[in-house]
Amino acid sequence: MAKQDLITLDQLSKPVLVGLLDRAIAMKNGHRDRTLDGKTLAMIFAKASTRTRVSFEVGMFQLGGHALMMSAQSSQIGRGEPVSDTAQVLSRYVDGIMIRTFCHDEVVELAQNATVPVINALTDLTHPCQVAADLMTAAEAFGLDGLADIKVAWVGDGNNMANSWINAAQVLGFELSLACPTGYEPDRAIFERAQANGARLHITQSPYEAVTYADVVTTDVWASMGQEDEAVQRQKAFDGFCVDDALMAVAKKRAIFLHCLPAHRGEEVTAQVIDGPRSRIYDEAENRLHIQKAILEWAYGVHTI
Ligand code: CP
Ligand code: NVA
Repeated sequence: MAKQDLITLDQLSKPVLVGLLDRAIAMKNGHRDRTLDGKTLAMIFAKASTRTRVSFEVGMFQLGGHALMMSAQSSQIGRGEPVSDTAQVLSRYVDGIMIRTFCHDEVVELAQNATVPVINALTDLTHPCQVAADLMTAAEAFGLDGLADIKVAWVGDGNNMANSWINAAQVLGFELSLACPTGYEPDRAIFERAQANGARLHITQSPYEAVTYADVVTTDVWASMGQEDEAVQRQKAFDGFCVDDALMAVAKKRAIFLHCLPAHRGEEVTAQVIDGPRSRIYDEAENRLHIQKAILEWAYGVHTI
């Protein structure tokens, strides 16, 4: 069987994505197997991380395996060793590679040259593991069977998270309405490919239009990792895009609020909303652990979906 990489969510079929969510929910509910007994995972980080690093490391441990932390800066990757050499060498030592980096094509190249599975743990373009955890959190609120019928509203930057939400909408069929300021729209190729594949997408510059009757309201920081120099300019561009109680009021009564974290209270979301009763941010963060265990089992070929 060919190795299973997870580079973007749109590479997954609907049954596989739903199967991963189902498995993650079972794991959260106490299902414990040492399915990755003796297996190893190299974790390459070229950017900072709290949730991704800890959830992958703990997840590998809980499944009976072991994860190795490799920062790009302290390895030869940071000194410019070719990605293809890194991929082939690591494949001789470990059973899988997880990578967080800037350039998406680097992850694609790593996967093409590795003989072990490669998991994308965030690039400038996408963040599939996070959106998978977000889908799990939405499934907990509305049921796995109900996911295709929800409306999701994305408010803010058309960034890596927004792009992965578009990929997810393409696979699962839910409605996705994105409100982004001019010049900060999601990746055009991802958007157009999803539309061509029947995704129910809508893009607007009005947060109110996007959030009206939404079941899930979600946002992210206005300046992602690597964009720190643009923070001031972005604060101006995103004026009016803060998720506050007035905006949440036009969502459905049952609507939940999600944020991948870290968050800037008072910028993209008010403290009242993110720390309020409709927020599911800590369940969402916890779900990284469960969904990643499901992804690891699937990628390592020990659990077939
Ligand atoms: N949401 C997320 O990926 O968090 P970290 O950057 O802490 O890993
Ligand atoms: N869009 C954010 C997500 C962090 C988890 C970033 O890339 O910094």
